[in-house]
Amino acid sequence: MKLLLTSDFHFHRPWYDWLLDHGPQYDLVAIAGDLMEMHYPGGVVPQLIYLHTWVRAMLKRGAVLAICSGNHDLPSTAPMVVPHLGIDKESVSLLEEYAKHDHWLQALRRNHQITVDQDHRIIRTNSGESLMVSCAPYRADGQFLFREHFPPPWLLLHHEPPGGTTLAGLNTGNQALAEFVRKTPPKYVLSGHTHFSEMSDNAFHERICKAHCFNCRQYPTAGIRPPAPNVIILDTSAGTATWRFCTPDGTPQQTTVEVD
Ligand SMILES: [Fe+2]
Repeated sequence: MKLLLTSDFHFHRPWYDWLLDHGPQYDLVAIAGDLMEMHYPGGVVPQLIYLHTWVRAMLKRGAVLAICSGNHDLPSTAPMVVPHLGIDKESVSLLEEYAKHDHWLQALRRNHQITVDQDHRIIRTNSGESLMVSCAPYRADGQFLFREHFPPPWLLLHHEPPGGTTLAGLNTGNQALAEFVRKTPPKYVLSGHTHFSEMSDNAFHERICKAHCFNCRQYPTAGIRPPAPNVIILDTSAGTATWRFCTPDGTPQQTTVEVD
């Protein structure tokens, strides 16, 4: 099974286009939060409309998606719309659909091809492999209330990386997630939130007990971003995880670890 793991697009549309072209070839595309950008000058509504259309296009191309929320995906002080921005008729009914749900991600759960916050789902491939995928929501209070656990192979998505690990910054990890992983290790954990930084060692993989934890260390939001997002390709059959990333000067690089 080949999985494409990423996070923190912060509404950078060229990267969504890149995923449209490259994501459907994988058995699963997992995005660990911050799909939206709370400081986007156009406000929240254009992002909701865009993401709905993008998810529909991904599913049409046969992609299988798992998406958990991040801090930029929560309601914020950002304006819903900015003055003089028109909303077409079709989008108004779309916004009514969003309004029926507690969180906008749940409105995207249109069929069995997408797993969002609070969902657990088994992904199966034609070759007979299977993987349980769970999405745990981001909480602004830092709590991790997820209690379920499943036999391996199981992938858990949560925006903040496990606290106290090399995948997190000094103040950006979630201790409760780290404790949960120590007690009941999923086989794989995908996080984001802590971006690539020249001030850091930029670890993309750390083992906690039996769990392989990942953070694709997304390229920072400031400045010109490279054409492709930072991603991790997890090949469960080969037992490898390859991190493809760009250094701040734009040089593409990759590094691989074994994950048994
Ligand atoms: Fe974040």
